Amino acid sequence: MLERLLYRSKATNTLGSLHLFNMLSEARAKNASMGITGHLLYTEEVFVQCIEGPPASISSLWESLQRDDRHHDLQLLARGPIEARRYQDWSMAFSSYPSLNRFNMPGFFAVDKEGMNAEAERCAQA
Ligand SMILES: Cc1cc2nc3c(=O)[nH]c(=O)nc-3n(C[C@H](O)[C@H](O)[C@H](O)COP(=O)(O)O)c2cc1C
Repeated sequence: MLERLLYRSKATNTLGSLHLFNMLSEARAKNASMGITGHLLYTEEVFVQCIEGPPASISSLWESLQRDDRHHDLQLLARGPIEARRYQDWSMAFSSYPSLNRFNMPGFFAVDKEGMNAEAERCAQA
């Protein structure tokens, strides 16, 4: 059984390339060990994250996320069972401004002028 959870939050401090790179690297290693895949969008100091995986892993990560003071005002947007993953290729795809990809991380998708791209659209779909 698989579950997907979608939330948005506000960054506590403006995050630069190095912080984001380190955060993503740690998140991806942990996600791979928990069977979690997903997508993180970061624009205008707002995060929108979609996580998908086994329900126990989703619950555990959701609790960790709620304790993390790097972001606040977490708003749960959707949570429920799914038939298939949308991000099976990524332990955490990441979309943001091209200027925030100084370290050329894999699984980075640049957003357009509206702060969107195809990966982020897929995340927002009901
Ligand atoms: C916006 C945002 C997204 C995050 N995404 C993930 C993630 O996908 N996977 C992950 O393991 N940790 C992620 N983290 C870090 C977790 O909040 C947490 O620090 C980490 O999972 C370690 O959890 P623990 O302190 O409960 O051991 C994210 C943090 C932030 C601020």
